[in-house]
Amino acid sequence: MRLRDLTFQRAFSKLFVYNILYEDAEVDERFLGLDEDSRVLSISGAGCGVAGMVSKRPRSLDVVDINGHHLALSALKITAAQRLGSYDTFYQLLGHGHVAQPWKVIKPLARDMPGWAASYWRKHHDRFKKNFYEKGLTAASIKMIRKMVGSDVHLMHMLMGQDEESRVRTIDAIIAPVFDRPYVKAFVSSPIQLVSLGVNYSQRDRMLEAEEQNTMVGFILHHMRRLADTDLNTNWFAWMGIVGHFNHGHPEAVPPYLRPDRHATSFGAPTRVSYHRRNIFNLLDNAGPNTWSHYTLCDMPDWLPEPTQRHLLDRILHTSTDGAIMLYRTVEDDCLADRHGLTSHFQRLDVSDIASEQDRSRQYRHVHFYRVCH
Ligand SMILES: C[S@@+](CC[C@H](N)C(=O)[O-])C[C@H]1O[C@@H](n2cnc3c(N)ncnc32)[C@H](O)[C@@H]1O
Repeated sequence: MRLRDLTFQRAFSKLFVYNILYEDAEVDERFLGLDEDSRVLSISGAGCGVAGMVSKRPRSLDVVDINGHHLALSALKITAAQRLGSYDTFYQLLGHGHVAQPWKVIKPLARDMPGWAASYWRKHHDRFKKNFYEKGLTAASIKMIRKMVGSDVHLMHMLMGQDEESRVRTIDAIIAPVFDRPYVKAFVSSPIQLVSLGVNYSQRDRMLEAEEQNTMVGFILHHMRRLADTDLNTNWFAWMGIVGHFNHGHPEAVPPYLRPDRHATSFGAPTRVSYHRRNIFNLLDNAGPNTWSHYTLCDMPDWLPEPTQRHLLDRILHTSTDGAIMLYRTVEDDCLADRHGLTSHFQRLDVSDIASEQDRSRQYRHVHFYRVCH
């Protein structure tokens, strides 16, 4: 890894960056094919995806992240899904992001978490006193931009009433001029903004090249225009960006783990969950054959130099069951398996095209599902 990406990784791992997973977990759920025999290794990010997996009651879930804040948040979301019997309290905590007495709700859950995660929430439970979804680096940076734009629920309703072309015109008229201000340009191009987007230097370079953009400002506006062709009614990423909370009026406008039917099947799920606050390579390098049937990697391969990507594929081949599924997202057009001459072992599934089309986060060019063949 290049020095500036190593520095990025070190800084990123220490900061509370995300409060939601910026990937469409509903798409993953549709195509991953988890069942009660599945043994999953998953990078957690902010945990919305792994919390949703519990509703499929897989045999085991190894949740890994180098970022302790994200892993603790994932532990809270997963434990609440498995152990919080009242759906109303569950939704109030993690849907609305605030409850009157956070520790009273979180304390019984903390007993079922690893000691370090329980200590984390003993210290930070008051984040749920007021809108949790305004906390963390990404939310703070989005809130600042929202204030400058004057963006709120009225703008969202206006966009929802428009067709795609009119939405793009609205974005160009109302949002683009704010990004043209010199201090906003400087902020958006700064290293802290890369951290808040979760985009390291290697990924930034790959992303700008693939989208034919010269600057991060150009990329962010391009991304907003891409959001314009999604169903804004259910697009919780757009709601978080434009309004600052979920669209509580629509039952499908939240990550699946927050929906009543998933809560009903997650509650009491016997899945064995292990949390690993470390680099995923640490787990992969120390595991034997036939350990996992599913790998979900977020967009982490984009953070890696090519030799390390190759090492990742080799270790997945070594540790997987025959026929295992690997899922990752990327800002690039070519596939990892092609690039490393491993297409006979990693077969890209056709559902990848549908998944890429359906992912409402619109952050990635591709959502790739592979079948691992020994
Ligand atoms: C790659 S980031 C990118 C953003 C992603 N779309 C999201 O919403 O979380 C996702 C997560 O991967 C974690 N991560 C990155 N590299 C990792 C590694 N080598 N091992 C474990 N976790 C890693 C980060 O800490 C972060 O929480």
